[in-house]
Amino acid sequence: MITTSGLSKVYRSRGREVTALDGVDLHVREGEVYGVIGQSGAGKSSLIRCVNLLERPTSGTVTVAGQDLTALAGRGHRAGRELRRARSRIGMVFQHFNLLSSRTVQDNVELPLEILGVSGKERSRKALELLDLVGLADKAGSYPAQLSGGQKQRVGIARALAGDPKVLLSDEATSALDPETTRSILQLLRDLNRQLGLTVLLITHEMDVVKSICDSAALMEKGRIVESGTVGELLATPGSELAAALFPVSGDASGDDRTVVDITFHGDAAGRPVISQLSRTYNIDISILGAAMDTVGGKQVGRMRIELPGRYEDNVVPIGFLREQGLQIDVQGLAQEPALAEEGAAK
Ligand SMILES: Nc1ncnc2c1ncn2[C@@H]1O[C@H](COP(=O)(O)OP(=O)(O)OP(=O)(O)O)[C@@H](O)[C@H]1O
Ligand SMILES: [Mg+2]
Repeated sequence: MITTSGLSKVYRSRGREVTALDGVDLHVREGEVYGVIGQSGAGKSSLIRCVNLLERPTSGTVTVAGQDLTALAGRGHRAGRELRRARSRIGMVFQHFNLLSSRTVQDNVELPLEILGVSGKERSRKALELLDLVGLADKAGSYPAQLSGGQKQRVGIARALAGDPKVLLSDEATSALDPETTRSILQLLRDLNRQLGLTVLLITHEMDVVKSICDSAALMEKGRIVESGTVGELLATPGSELAAALFPVSGDASGDDRTVVDITFHGDAAGRPVISQLSRTYNIDISILGAAMDTVGGKQVGRMRIELPGRYEDNVVPIGFLREQGLQIDVQGLAQEPALAEEGAAK
């Protein structure tokens, strides 16, 4: 639904160059909620602004719903007609809502329809329908100053939906909201995604946002995507930073002569009694240092940190047993496992 290839953005100001995007290949599938996470300055907003051509990329292409936007003329406020039309089908939600304070809630939602040249009666019908969809039917005549932050963001979302977009872009839509309101706005985005088949690309610096609604996620660092995939794929990737951050487990070894192993359960493996099997099969005592079960991307996932007596060399066989059960195994404190390093060397 959204594809960027080799997307780069270099800002030039007062003789200085800042590379905000450095060859970003992003692929968002139709109907999914895709989260991009990264630290401040990583290039997240630049990415989203390039996706709807508010910023013209320095190089690379952006395709949304099969249309190559980078081939269309203009940018920002000077976009050509075709680009403007394409952009009206991409909804955008902002951190600070960007509502016009002099207009009522309904008139704010009508604004993009005015720009599209929709007639007054049709505009008003559509705006009221959208306000109903976001749960604000009774606030049509209010002014933004009379609304709470969460209500303002609902107006922002209704406005973003005015052009019947297939794609919704959201840049830190919940960063200015308290945790409770954040949850309700995320739930609304999830509902819209399901009800309208809307594809959502959202930018956030909060792992909880990714955890609660995203099907897929990417981690950005210094203008590049360093990890990406569905939540399931990330959890199954050894050493994935995103997976570890989505699903933190902690607990330190009780002594030097111990092996600490993180086990990630997802899919079928989540239901099997692997720990007791391990203990019985190898006659070893296993301590559980930490554990968590949660729902990530709508699926049940568990992580457990266990401790086995002896060093890694003494536990190669039990660890192999765990791997054979189809579990994701990360041995702590090993840069690269000796067995895997040998395999790599042999190739
Ligand atoms: N219009 C601009 N002109 C010059 N440099 C810019 C411009 N916009 C962004 N930058 C620079 O590009 C880099 C990436 O900025 P960007 O806003 O994309 O980061 P971000 O990941 O959204 O950060 P945050 O989480 O703080 O919003 C930063 O170094 C920033 O200073
Ligand atoms: Mg930003």
